[in-house]
Amino acid sequence: MTTTSHALDVERIRADFPILSTVLHAAPKRPGVQLAYLDNAATTQRPQQVIQAIVDTYEKHYANVHRGIHWLSDQSTDLYEDARGKVQSLIGAPTREEVIFTHGTTESINLVARSWGDANLKPTDEILLTEMEHHSNIVPWQQAAARTGAIVRFLPITDDGQLALGALDQFLTPRTRIVAVAAIPNVLGTINPLSEIIVRAHQAGALVLVDAAQSVPHQHTDVQALGADFLVFSGHKMLGPSGVGVLFGRRELLEAMPPFLGGGSMIRRVTTALFEPAELPAKFEAGTPPIVSAIGLGAAIDYLQQLGMDAIQAHERLLCTRAHEVLSSVGGLKFLGPTPERKSGIVSFTLDRVHAHDVAQLLDRQGIAVRAGHHCAMPLHKRLGINASTRASFYFYNTLDEVERLGTALDEIKRIFRRK
Ligand code: ALA
Repeated sequence: MTTTSHALDVERIRADFPILSTVLHAAPKRPGVQLAYLDNAATTQRPQQVIQAIVDTYEKHYANVHRGIHWLSDQSTDLYEDARGKVQSLIGAPTREEVIFTHGTTESINLVARSWGDANLKPTDEILLTEMEHHSNIVPWQQAAARTGAIVRFLPITDDGQLALGALDQFLTPRTRIVAVAAIPNVLGTINPLSEIIVRAHQAGALVLVDAAQSVPHQHTDVQALGADFLVFSGHKMLGPSGVGVLFGRRELLEAMPPFLGGGSMIRRVTTALFEPAELPAKFEAGTPPIVSAIGLGAAIDYLQQLGMDAIQAHERLLCTRAHEVLSSVGGLKFLGPTPERKSGIVSFTLDRVHAHDVAQLLDRQGIAVRAGHHCAMPLHKRLGINASTRASFYFYNTLDEVERLGTALDEIKRIFRRK
């Protein structure tokens, strides 16, 4: 069974993704199984249109950007800057200069923690994170705290994987300088009430950085409507190449921040004694940037916008809701995070007396790709009293049939372990 829902013709869409027709584990006299790729929170697959944009760039348009006074460099520069414009329109950024290309979400957060953090944080200032963050939204702040004497605090979560907003007033103090929070955390999938958090943080005089790595690929984003000060995400989780990420920052913040990395492109003038930084966005794009990856991201954005972010979100909700129905009947399975209407297409769970790595390995034998372990969220797992979990994560090209396969395979795993 394939799925046609909410204006998405998933069967037709899947034909754009060569890798989704992979058959694996075939052997003499064994036909093999069709890949069910349910590890989209780790990274997504690419459609032919994105692959072709990358090939075309290398074959016809490639040179370094913002450097050469030659035709090819102009072509490459135009494509790279077009990609910036596409990001600007996707997230509703007021100007192109507020869109910085980095190498990924992790680098974007490190940029803010290092550049804004070192310039603004003082001893006893507070950085407010949450218990559901990915390590990439924890460690850079711990490092900033170690350098500056600031203190990292964690807003607690409820047992069903939502932010304990009732405690927010207690955690937002006159010393809170920044709140760094995932729009959608990578294990729980909770759709966090960002607007409320941002309003309350601003009332308390704090800035807000939104880790949008798991949200920009899956739902409509408008940085101005949200009022986000910084918002970060990666290309590879939204059909784009790896090695490119985005930092959106409000202009006056970016203008006041010192450069993060030093090198070519980020300067206006260099003498043997000093340098003057360039204007935005070049100030934060030292060295040769991820040229082709950014152009590929631009093609990915075209593809997503043609489908429509609302249609994408609706299809993933359908898959997530069905996954909860199907998996509820698997004996000993416990979901992490809230009910489907409060989350994205991420379904994490534990299976009684079966280690998450065994679950993932046995699912792989059925051609089902999921992630298992702590998913770079050790504090969250500690809070939940577990060491590891299994995570199925959907994208718009997944089908209800794949959800059914996941349920059947988990039933079978339970039966195997009961026999042991
Ligand atoms: N952040 C990615 C994940 O959650 C790698 O799997």
